[in-house]
Amino acid sequence: MNRVALVTGAARGIGAAIAARLRRDGYTVIGADRQAAEGCILADVADPTAVQALIEEIDASHGRLDALVCNAGFMIRKGIEELSLAEWSSVLATNLTSTFLLVKQALPLLRAARGAVVTIASTRAHQSEPDTECYAASKGGLVALTHALAASLGPEVRVNCISPGWIDTSNSTLSLEDHAQHFTGRVGVPNDIAGMAAYLLGPEAGFITGAEFIIDGGMTRKMIYVP
Ligand SMILES: NC(=O)c1ccc[n+]([C@@H]2O[C@H](COP(=O)([O-])OP(=O)(O)OC[C@H]3O[C@@H](n4cnc5c(N)ncnc54)[C@H](O)[C@@H]3O)[C@@H](O)[C@H]2O)c1
Repeated sequence: MNRVALVTGAARGIGAAIAARLRRDGYTVIGADRQAAEGCILADVADPTAVQALIEEIDASHGRLDALVCNAGFMIRKGIEELSLAEWSSVLATNLTSTFLLVKQALPLLRAARGAVVTIASTRAHQSEPDTECYAASKGGLVALTHALAASLGPEVRVNCISPGWIDTSNSTLSLEDHAQHFTGRVGVPNDIAGMAAYLLGPEAGFITGAEFIIDGGMTRKMIYVP
C-alpha cells in the first residue's frame, strides 16, 4: 500500500529527519516549508490560503493522506516589554494555528485513510526560561490542541504529540556540561524524534491517542539541587 505523509518544516532539522525516516519506511512524503529546499513544496503554514492550496495539491496528486506531521515552528526570544503583538501573533500562527488549519483542511483525507497526526510541541510547554512567553504559550496550546483533536477525530484518526527537549539540529559545538544535563549523557539529535514520530504514525500505536511523549534524555526529570 502506498501511504502518503505530509511533514511541515521539512527543509531542515527535525522535520527533515522525520521526512527521511518516513521515506525509508515506505511512505510517499510531501515536505512543506517556507524555505526552499529539495523535495519540499514552498508553503507558509501560517497562511490559510497556502494551507488550502497545499492540501488540495496533495489530494489532486495523490488522492490520500495517511500521516500528517505538524512540525514547523520557530521561537522569538524577547522580553515582554519589547515583544510586539505582531511578533506574538506570528509565533502563535506558525506554532499553533497552523495545526488547526492543516487538520481542518486535511480532515476528509485523514478520515478516509484512517490516518494519524503527530504534532511537535516542546518541553517548553512545561518549563521556561525568561523571555520565551510566545513560544511557551504556543507549545502549551499545541499540547492541549492535540488531546482536543484526539477527542474529536477518534476513532478514525489518532492524534499524538511529541515534546522534544534539547535537539541539536546544526552540529553545534557542545560542551561536556551541555551533555551532562541529560540522564542519557548526551544532547538529542533529530533522529531521536524521527523514530518516535514513525512509531506513533504506524499500526503498532493503534491504541495511543491524545498523548504527549516527552523525548528529552531525562532533562526535565533532572533535579538541580545545590545544598
Ligand atoms: N531543536 C530543538 O531543540 C527543539 C526542541 C523542542 C521543540 N522543537 C520544535 O521542533 C520543531 C522543529 O524544530 P527544529 O529545531 O528542527 O527547527 P529548525 O529551525 O531547524 O527547522 C524548522 C523548519 O520549519 C520551517 N518553518 C518555520 N516556520 C514555518 C512556516 N510558517 N511555514 C513553513 N515552514 C516553516 C523553517 O523554515 C525550518 O525549515 C519546531 O516546532 C520546534 O519548535 C525543537
